[in-house]
Amino acid sequence: MENVLHFAELDSTNTYLKDNFATLADKTVVMADIQTAGRGRFHRQWISQRGGLYFSILLKPTQTDFAANLTQLMALSVCRAVEELGAKPTIKWPNDVQLSGKKLCGILSEAVAAENGLSCVVLGAGVNVAQDNLNYVGQPAISLREAGIFIDKEILLSSILNYFWQGYNKVIESGFSSLREEYIKRFPYLGKEIAIKNGAVDCAGVLKDISPRGTLLLSSHSGLEEILIGDLIV
Ligand code: BTN
Repeated sequence: MENVLHFAELDSTNTYLKDNFATLADKTVVMADIQTAGRGRFHRQWISQRGGLYFSILLKPTQTDFAANLTQLMALSVCRAVEELGAKPTIKWPNDVQLSGKKLCGILSEAVAAENGLSCVVLGAGVNVAQDNLNYVGQPAISLREAGIFIDKEILLSSILNYFWQGYNKVIESGFSSLREEYIKRFPYLGKEIAIKNGAVDCAGVLKDISPRGTLLLSSHSGLEEILIGDLIV
């Protein structure tokens, strides 16, 4: 496999890259067999027991206009890799991957301000690969093994990274538009009644479209709203 720093245990692969970004090369990948302080979106905990795939990539793009869309590229890359194994995943905007309506993968992107004024991006993903019991997750979750798919997590990582690097330059140059068609094929919520939760703020309505920049266009009682961030609830 390409150059991957593989640890038996880390607090968090995202934290490791954030702490060491200055001395590590662009596109460094780090994985850990377990994480003792794995982190999720909105400061949630990501419990990381043995059997899961936990990895992060350090990215030092020359321009970061479309950095937010890298999470969507990662979701699509995970989908493509598990589709090769016979699964039929879907994407729950912005970047969860689901199988049978349960969470298979979560993605956390964090920006780090570098000294030269540009920012680095640390993009981390946790994929449920071989755990048997995900009851500790605060929402319905599933592993590939529970879905009857047995795969070595390093082989899976290699496949995910292949798809990710195939799409990376296009996303950096032109953003979500380079992914939109393939993303929407795996996104089953268009035209549906949904709600979006962002902290204490909730909004609900019919999901009209995904915009060219990857945000949701929601028709609600106050008109057409553009949703930039939040959790989608069906
Ligand atoms: C989420 O769904 O809230 C995002 C979860 C992201 C978890 C991954 S596991 C590898 C990387 N290291 C972390 O601490 N978090 C991400």
